[in-house]
Amino acid sequence: MNSKDQKRILVTGSKGQVGVELARQLPTTFPSAEILMTDRTSLDLSNLTQLKETISQFSPHIIINAGAYTAVDKAEDDQETAYIINSEAPKVLAKISKSTDALLIHYSTDYVFDGMKKEFYKEEDITNPLNIYGKSKLKGEQNIVSIGGRFLILRTSWVYAEHGHNFMRTILRLAQERNELSIVNDQWGSPTSASWLAEISNLLSQRFFSKHPLESGIYHAVCREETNWFDYAHFILECANIDNVSLIPTATGVTPTKAKRPTNSRLSTDKIQSKLGILPPPWKNEVQRIVSLILKETE
Ligand SMILES: NC(=O)c1ccc[n+]([C@@H]2O[C@H](COP(=O)([O-])OP(=O)(O)OC[C@H]3O[C@@H](n4cnc5c(N)ncnc54)[C@H](OP(=O)(O)O)[C@@H]3O)[C@@H](O)[C@H]2O)c1
Repeated sequence: MNSKDQKRILVTGSKGQVGVELARQLPTTFPSAEILMTDRTSLDLSNLTQLKETISQFSPHIIINAGAYTAVDKAEDDQETAYIINSEAPKVLAKISKSTDALLIHYSTDYVFDGMKKEFYKEEDITNPLNIYGKSKLKGEQNIVSIGGRFLILRTSWVYAEHGHNFMRTILRLAQERNELSIVNDQWGSPTSASWLAEISNLLSQRFFSKHPLESGIYHAVCREETNWFDYAHFILECANIDNVSLIPTATGVTPTKAKRPTNSRLSTDKIQSKLGILPPPWKNEVQRIVSLILKETE
């Protein structure tokens, strides 16, 4: 039985990039809360019956859905699973949150857009995903919005952390193995650290518990300022003091991928600043910080 007054937070996907950061940060922010960190083994998002049962039993005040089907190319051949995890599971979470007046914090993606816009995308811009992953994530957003209740959908992009699978770690690894790397220079966006995403999720959870007004809706939650993959790779190597690797700029399509990617993934952060008072850090600051953490770990 759960105690009536104890704060309860349930996190899905706790072994992912954002999940690991939440596991690190939540207990410090909420030392007396009951925090249930779940991963694929303990709470499978594709098993909707188990999902309902586990969540109803724990009865969380806040659900943070950090679990997702994130294998973008694989999703093209595995549409059904991608949709169950990215759109049906969020629907279940939204229904339970609404019925218990809990807060649902959910993450979505820049891939809901087709990238054809010339400027930064705003939350209300027309969506048109180019791949199955983006379509399944968009359906997840739509399911949550149509159910209503208290929810914050944080659309993010180019997520990285000192752990997990991400572009930063791949570049640092390949730089040890090769002296030349070809990197796409015509896709624009903003690298966003999992650690900052966990930090703002913590902050929003604190506000929820302190009954601070939180307007439900979709928010773009990315680091400020823009770059492309080539310049990003260049900056990673600069931060790591690696100067013996040549980077070759290439165009999208030179190395074809199964799933199409948008060329413009730039998301405006005006709304999260004006409505939630959150000023995202410039992407370079976070990249510098995380590269130095990785370097310290490998010393
Ligand atoms: N990564 C990005 O660049 C990026 C960009 C935009 C938006 N996002 C969104 O941001 C959120 C967090 O992404 P992330 O980078 O932290 O992703 P991640 O590192 O891939 O983590 C996702 C987690 O979900 C888990 N998961 C997959 N299938 C599951 C299932 N059936 N049941 C339970 N858990 C399952 C994975 O477990 P396994 O490790 O066992 O597979 C993994 O631990 C996601 O909603 C993602 O769509 C990410």
